[in-house]
Order: sequence, then C-alpha cells, then structure tokens
Amino acid sequence: MNAVNARLQHETPLRQSADQTELRPELNRAHVRFIGLGKTYDGAQVAALQGIDLAIQRGEVFGIIGRSGAGKSSLIRTINRLEQPSNGRVLIDHVDIGDYDEDRLVELRRRVGMIFQHFNLMSAKTVWQNVELPLKVAGVPKDLRQRKVRELLELVGLQGKHKAYPAQLSGGQKQRVGIARALVHDPQILLCDEATSALDPETTQSILALLREINQRLGLTIVLITHEMAVIREVCDRVVVLEQGRIVEQGPVWEVFGNPQHEVSRTLLAPLQHAIPQELQERLQEQPASADAATVLRLQFTGIGGDEPDLAALFSALGGRVRLLHGGIERIQGHGLGQLLLAVSGSSWGAEELRQRAGNWAQRVEVLGYVV
Ligand SMILES: Nc1ncnc2c1ncn2[C@@H]1O[C@H](COP(=O)(O)OP(=O)(O)OP(=O)(O)O)[C@@H](O)[C@H]1O
Ligand SMILES: [Mg+2]
Repeated sequence: MNAVNARLQHETPLRQSADQTELRPELNRAHVRFIGLGKTYDGAQVAALQGIDLAIQRGEVFGIIGRSGAGKSSLIRTINRLEQPSNGRVLIDHVDIGDYDEDRLVELRRRVGMIFQHFNLMSAKTVWQNVELPLKVAGVPKDLRQRKVRELLELVGLQGKHKAYPAQLSGGQKQRVGIARALVHDPQILLCDEATSALDPETTQSILALLREINQRLGLTIVLITHEMAVIREVCDRVVVLEQGRIVEQGPVWEVFGNPQHEVSRTLLAPLQHAIPQELQERLQEQPASADAATVLRLQFTGIGGDEPDLAALFSALGGRVRLLHGGIERIQGHGLGQLLLAVSGSSWGAEELRQRAGNWAQRVEVLGYVV
C-alpha cells in the first residue's frame, strides 16, 4: 500500500453512520472540523468546495495549498463564517457554528483572528489606533485597552512605532500591525490568507518566525494559505492540497513533500525539487558510449524509515568509483528528504544491479543514463 492510500485509508471513516468520534480518537482533539462541507456561490455553475471532510488539531499550524481558484480562501472563510457553506457542517470545539445568530457570530469572530495579504489597515489611523479599534468597538475600558495594545505591540516588535501611520511602515511592519490587531481578543484560532505573499523573502522569514512564536507561546491553532511552498515547509505541521474544491491529498508536511502522490501536489512542489542541472542533462546518454562510461543513479530520500544513509557502506556496495554529481538532503520535521545524483564507474555491477544495491539506502532509485 503506498503512502497516500495508507493516509486515505486512515482518513476514511470506519462506519459512516456511527458517531465517528467514538471510532477515531483524533477527532476528539479536533479544534476545527469540516464535515461534508460544500459551497456553491450564487449563480455559479460549479461548486467552489465539495465533500470536504477534514480535522484541524488544536495547536497545530495547518497549511492549505492548491492552484488559484481551488477553493482555499472559500474554505478558510467558512471558519469565521465570512462565507456561509451551502451544505455540510463546520464544527469549532465540537460545536456546529452553522446556526449561530448575529450575536454568536460576533463572539465567534473574536475567537477567530484573521490576517490578510494586503494587511487591511486603516490609513488615517496610527499603529496604536489600528490595534485599539476592535477593542473600542467591543466596548473594552480604556485602561484595559491600553494594556492590551502595549502588550501586543511588544509581542510583534513594534513598541517604537505606535505613533506611525501605515504609509510610514514597511510591508513587514504593516503585517505585524495586522497580526497585533488579529490578536486583540485573545483568539484561539488565527487564519492567514496569503499573509506573506506581498513580502520579500527576508521579511517573510521574520513574519513566519513571529507566527511560530505566537503558535508556541499562546498555543494558537494557525490555519495558513500560501502559494509559497517554502512557507509550508518552514512552519506547517500538516498540509492539505485542494483541487477544484476537493481534497486530493493531505498529511504531515514531510510526508506530502517527500512523496507527493497527486499530480497537482507534484506540480505545486516542483519548484522545491532539485532539478537535474541543464549541463548534466545534456551530457547524459541513454547507452554507455564506452567501457569506462559511468552509470548515473538518482537516489531519492522520502523521509520514510528515518535512518540517515551510511555513505561509506553505500559506496562500498556500489563498488568502483563513486562521484557525487548533484543533490542534497534537507530536514523537515526530523525527516531527511532529498536526492543524490551519483556517477558510478569501474564497478563490476551492471546498471540494474547497481540500482538494486542502492535501493538498500534510498526509497527510490533510478538509472538516469551514462556519462563519460
Ligand atoms: N464571491 C464569489 N462569488 C462567486 N464565485 C466566487 C466568489 N469567491 C470565489 N468564487 C469562485 O470560487 C472558486 C474558488 O475561489 P477561492 O477564492 O476560494 O479560490 P482560491 O483557492 O483562494 O484561489 P487564489 O489562490 O487565487 O486565491 C473560484 O472558481 C472562484 O472564482
Ligand atoms: Mg484565495
């Protein structure tokens, strides 16, 4: 059984009609749960979401990826009911939020903070006033407001900027204000829709570090949409892949990134893969051009198993001379993922035997061709 089947099997309810929480203890810990969720916008021909069954655990950083239009924003916005599902249910702490009245929706939106790609700050208000505003609206007394705003500006590292206007801030600083504002009511869930997409890589790193800190210090559950796969790799515990409104793959980040099963996941993750360099690709030949041609092997490490490969033992099993052409290993959630391209020459083993021998150290081995 391959990894995705194992995952799907694990996700498939054992008995449809039974109370699934009895049978699947992980659902008891679910902070947010979608059950048969669907959404069709008024006048739309096709559903934006359909048949979404998903559990997000308390305290995890959960990523949502998918092509543009896959339904990511529609899904995340059902958590604070900015979007009303057409069918199915959304449970928060096991409570169906579907029939909340206006008052309970106001209370829900305080429990669920949200930050946006374009920050959505009020340009005529200072940093302090932007963060304070939702507290004022909620009727929080002045001394409590001041304490809270001060505390949050410190948390996001903007103590010195409280008098500045948004136009006087960098993108990263604006997003810090957005984060502080999202946290004013001590939410238990933080939704981030493309929150780092307008930022440069270095600023993205600092915002991700802040989100991680908030996740760990305050124990918030974070649900994060991004088109940047490196962001998912950096901060998420688990990830779901959406395509045309449906879930096509989900699992721990290392597992989905190490061994993506669905074509959409592979396409999305392609930028993270180390492609074979053009120059090497051009040198590769399908057949050995001479007796001393080297066999080029690609060893892929998907993180399953966990043992770090013993290179000396690998090289000695291959025999002959082994050169490292390209590749590397990176660690995600404690699992080593990546690939190595090796050129083996002067071995007494043929290509197929080399492939099989290398298979003791890597999860997947291919013979890519030969180089002289
Ligand atoms: N308010 C709306 N009215 C009608 N259709 C909508 C509305 N919002 C979204 N859609 C449609 O629903 C589908 C899913 O949209 P959604 O915004 O959830 O996608 P997304 O995955 O967030 O895309 P992106 O990565 O571009 O932000 C798309 O086909 C979109 O055109
Ligand atoms: Mg979107």
